[in-house]
Amino acid sequence: MDTEPIIRLRDVHKTFDTTSVLRGVDLDVHAGQTTVVIGPSGCGKSVLLKHMAGLIRPDSGTVQFAGRPISAMKGRELAVLRRRMGFLFQGAALFDSLTVGANVCFPLIEHEVGTAEERRRRCQHVLALVGLDGFQDRWPEDLSGGEKKRVALARAIAIGPDVIFYDEPTTGLDPIRADLINELILRLKAALDATAVVVTHDLHSARRVGDRVLMLYNGHFIADTSAEKLDRVDNEVVARFVQGRASPDELARIETGPLGRMSPAGQESG
Ligand SMILES: Nc1ncnc2c1ncn2[C@@H]1O[C@H](COP(=O)(O)OP(=O)(O)O)[C@@H](O)[C@H]1O
Ligand SMILES: [Mg+2]
Repeated sequence: MDTEPIIRLRDVHKTFDTTSVLRGVDLDVHAGQTTVVIGPSGCGKSVLLKHMAGLIRPDSGTVQFAGRPISAMKGRELAVLRRRMGFLFQGAALFDSLTVGANVCFPLIEHEVGTAEERRRRCQHVLALVGLDGFQDRWPEDLSGGEKKRVALARAIAIGPDVIFYDEPTTGLDPIRADLINELILRLKAALDATAVVVTHDLHSARRVGDRVLMLYNGHFIADTSAEKLDRVDNEVVARFVQGRASPDELARIETGPLGRMSPAGQESG
């Protein structure tokens, strides 16, 4: 790709207490693509996503968003950049004391976007996009899990973000509702012309929505490929994970180096 990436990570390291989660991550996220990061539970997918969104600072290394050093920003400057992002967090909670409409409008009010009438229309529009036309006056407690997720998605896109971050968007949903979310991720990409970053351990979802799929493991990417080629990556950990052939414990016992730094056959790494 010769265009500037919308998000760029360089040599990002992050350790919590004694757990080294990210160990020198490099990544360019290209505009207009859906980039999916897969990996077993606890491998650092959410931590990675939070770095991209400027919610966590790296111990070392840099994160750029639209060419700006988000990893070094704070306050107002950071808030302005965040207006260009939509988030669908894991277990995204709605405010139970607010109607669906008020939940969706929340980020617009927070960022002081539009008049009340414009916000009302925007809310209607994004609810229709997620298939919840006419839900404005409903209450969260009257919705199913899948509907709540879709309201949270409408809220995430209300502001018209350049980038939508999805953290485990299908987790906790039955296969049919999960597929509905996958369809929405695809539909929103087309409707909003947005860039999406999805982190998930749901391989079906990764294959369905991903233009590009990376696997995070032991603090590095060990695969960077397309959804179509995911089954043909020449790496034992990736192969086992995508075929559902190994538990996380088993995966942890297989040694593998980071992409681009794999030791040549027959040589010891380190
Ligand atoms: N704020 C935090 N404080 C301490 N440890 C954390 C924090 N956030 C994440 N971790 C640890 O970092 C590792 C990766 O977490 P996470 O990114 O949530 O994994 P994933 O999303 O891939 O399941 C886990 O061991 C987790 O316990
Ligand atoms: Mg997570």
